[in-house]
Amino acid sequence: MGTLFSSSLALFFTILLHNHPGGEAGVGVNYGVVANNLPPPPVALSRLRQIGITKIRIFDPENTILTALHGSDISVIIGTKNKDLLPLATDKSAASAWVAANILPHHPSVKFTCITAGNDEVPAGLSRYTPAAMENLAAAVAAANLSIPVSTVISMRTLSASFPPSAGDFSAAAKPIMTQIVKFLQSEKYPLHLQVFPYFARANYPVELDLDYALFRPGKTAVRDGGRTYLNLFDLMTDAAHAALEKIGAGELEIVAAESGWPSGGGNDATVENAQTYVNNLIGHVASGKGTPRRPGKQVEAYIFALFNENMKPEGIEQHWGMFYPNLTHVYHLNKIV
Ligand SMILES: *[C@@H]1O[C@H](CO)[C@@H](O)[C@H](O)[C@H]1NC(C)=O
Ligand SMILES: *[C@@H]1O[C@H](CO)[C@@H](O)[C@H](O)[C@H]1NC(C)=O
Repeated sequence: MGTLFSSSLALFFTILLHNHPGGEAGVGVNYGVVANNLPPPPVALSRLRQIGITKIRIFDPENTILTALHGSDISVIIGTKNKDLLPLATDKSAASAWVAANILPHHPSVKFTCITAGNDEVPAGLSRYTPAAMENLAAAVAAANLSIPVSTVISMRTLSASFPPSAGDFSAAAKPIMTQIVKFLQSEKYPLHLQVFPYFARANYPVELDLDYALFRPGKTAVRDGGRTYLNLFDLMTDAAHAALEKIGAGELEIVAAESGWPSGGGNDATVENAQTYVNNLIGHVASGKGTPRRPGKQVEAYIFALFNENMKPEGIEQHWGMFYPNLTHVYHLNKIV
């Protein structure tokens, strides 16, 4: 059974990749390691290869994962720690040292898709250092004669309005920082990375939003917004961010869904069945190439959250986002999607 699923999914991904030369679009997986029982990276990566995944994101420069990626066909988005935003922003030599320590030893054996400066920090704490950290990292990358995009990962918390999606707007606290971030991204034509979690949106509005809408299941909810019709919460949230970008003059920026998933336990509506439905439908949505109502036909790129259940995260839903248990058994099956 498992093998059948794996080979049909591998076939599916092969078709997906062939349909989109350049390999920019498609589905990746977040490889988090907040656990004490995970298999060694080479084992985890070969499991990923079995299901046809060729893109991962790592939150920190994990040397054991980077080393395991040498010579592989799996590309990686690599993040900086949030606490490094300050030194990276204020000291150009810290940015050069970061690239020297985390990129150069793995170049050109590892395919780096992007360096992300900070994760879900805007608008709090150290996020005012994000724009300068991105600039210094980009300068360090250029000085090393490399060509790797630099970006950051934000969450929907940066938006003060997201409904209807055309009303999407960054909050007063986030706007000054986002304005600087997008100026950099626009000048380099780099994408913005966004966490898109319909699970949390629905958890906040359990009465207004029905479960089917969050799970991409055709149901009773269809949100009309001007001439556009939203049939799922993922598109609605992504387009709220597009609208917010438009309001700060950055409507052309591409958004990568850097994290999206559904917990299989530990909370309301957190079941194996719902996690399986969400992730399979997300993959199908990405494969459809339909884009979102505000960006029709624009291929969406999405990174599933997450590879493994992580037992050192806080108890509750936080420990239940994995596609796999640490013993490499599927938490839920990925179906063949056509
Ligand atoms: C980068 O390329 C330039 C021009 O080819 C060369 O002069 C320089 O030494 C290179 N720098 C590094 C760090 O490889
Ligand atoms: C893997 O771990 C899960 C969760 O602990 C367990 O339910 C399952 O039986 C294990 N599978 C194998 C093959 O050990």
